[in-house]
Amino acid sequence: MSQITKICCIGAGYVGGPTMAMIAKKCPHIKVTVVDLNEQRIAAWNDPDVENIPVYEPGLSEVVAEARGRNLFFSTDVDAAIDEAEMVFISVNTPTKTYGAGKGQAADLKWIELCARQIARVSKDNKIIVEKSTLPVRTASAIKDILMHTGNGSQFQILSNPEFLAEGTAVEDLDAPDRVLIGGDSTAEGQTAIQALVDVYANWIPRERILTTNVWSSELSKLTANAFLAQRVSSINSLTELCEKTEADINEVARAIGTDSRIGPKFLKASVGFGGSCFQKDILNLVYIARTYGLQEVADYWEQVIIMNDHQKKRFANQMIRELYNTVNGKKISFLGWAFKKDTNDTRESAAIYVADHLLHEQAQIMVYDPKVLEGQIYFDLDYLGTRTSEENKKGVSVINDPYEACKGAHAIAVLTEWDEFKDYDWQKIYDSMLKPAKIFDGRNLLDANKLRSIGFIVQSIGTKS
Ligand code: NAD
Ligand code: UGA
Repeated sequence: MSQITKICCIGAGYVGGPTMAMIAKKCPHIKVTVVDLNEQRIAAWNDPDVENIPVYEPGLSEVVAEARGRNLFFSTDVDAAIDEAEMVFISVNTPTKTYGAGKGQAADLKWIELCARQIARVSKDNKIIVEKSTLPVRTASAIKDILMHTGNGSQFQILSNPEFLAEGTAVEDLDAPDRVLIGGDSTAEGQTAIQALVDVYANWIPRERILTTNVWSSELSKLTANAFLAQRVSSINSLTELCEKTEADINEVARAIGTDSRIGPKFLKASVGFGGSCFQKDILNLVYIARTYGLQEVADYWEQVIIMNDHQKKRFANQMIRELYNTVNGKKISFLGWAFKKDTNDTRESAAIYVADHLLHEQAQIMVYDPKVLEGQIYFDLDYLGTRTSEENKKGVSVINDPYEACKGAHAIAVLTEWDEFKDYDWQKIYDSMLKPAKIFDGRNLLDANKLRSIGFIVQSIGTKS
């Protein structure tokens, strides 16, 4: 089975959709079918207007438009797609467990196991199974256990092929990744399976960027990569508070340390805290695994990255309250941005949710504007927290489609996502429409604070003295 001609991907989410669209674009000779239980999601991927696909990513609609209907298909018929494929990617969600043993830390592998059981039930011939989801180290052995006992004699090779794309830059990341990582067994069959997947990626990725390892190294490397990236954000964020006390400027500090080639400039941008569906989940999972093996110091070390991130979100909200004369009761506060970073409509674990929750406890009135996040998603995020009823959330938060309207009559503005368009607003017009003194809390260090001050704003950019 060296030449793959049919791929199935289970899970049409932020990873499954874009990764498979790129494989289909680059490999017109391979039929790629992406399947999902979620009918609405599949319908959106199949929407004749390609701008309505369910994942917003710059450049993605063009990739989908090129391949969809040619060799890229989206379907809810999971069994049929598994049956015909030689290679099955598992790209389903692996959130933090919300119940039972490991609650709040371990990854919930319920959906992974369901996929393995479904593959075992449906398969009539040999297949290569590829873990694309981010999984705890040694998950492949559980998948293998389930697949080994199908009773119909099919043989399976399990590969780990974690995804390193970042949202907002998914298309560039998939088009020219720093590396592709493939882990597999050292047996002859394992090596043949690795080669089959290497051959798929080699259609557009230079061979030297395709790394092969054993399965366990690959699984652990994914958790480690996210932990290292998040640790850099927490490290720089930990210094923002010190900068605010000492008149050091976090941007200058980041530039000064980032120019050391051993440190490097990336992931040193101070913020209100990292969000996204994976950093927190993957670190918590790493912490859980370390604790499971009795490695307390290792677990405590990584847990601190999360503790610092939670502190940063709370600190930002508390600072706003303090600067608004210790009360925000009934005050109108405008949020610019709700997504967890720019250029995505994803809001999972966005710092904005937690800052809003904190301010709502203090009875603030929040007006939200985000260029890509829909109103329903914002209320869903608040309701999902479970801290107040959905009526209370509707009463405390309004979602407004125009940034100027969202800022009108406000006591303060909080910048929570680094959308480029915020920099180009007519800030004089916004200032004129606000209550005075007009305050801006820039949680992304995005805006030109000097320019805003010259208009009359009182500005607090994270990590700089106000
Ligand atoms: P997602 O929630 O957007 O998508 C997962 C999809 O899987 C959902 O649409 C769900 O309906 C579907 N699904 C679940 N169980 C199914 C089943 N049994 N059969 C068919 N469909 C099923 O999640 P995501 O953001 O795409 O993440 C998927 C995995 O990739 C996670 O493990 C995540 O950690 C990892 N990852 C995510 C990113 C990212 O940027 N979002 C990047 C790298 C890795
Ligand atoms: C991250 C990793 O970058 C990807 O390699 C990985 O595949 C993905 O997680 C995953 O496993 O899900 P993502 O969460 O999409 O990607 O986005 P990032 O660019 O990493 O940003 C994460 C968070 O950190 C965002 O809230 C962002 O605003 C914040 N951040 C990032 C900072 O506050 N400062 C920085 O310097 C960089």
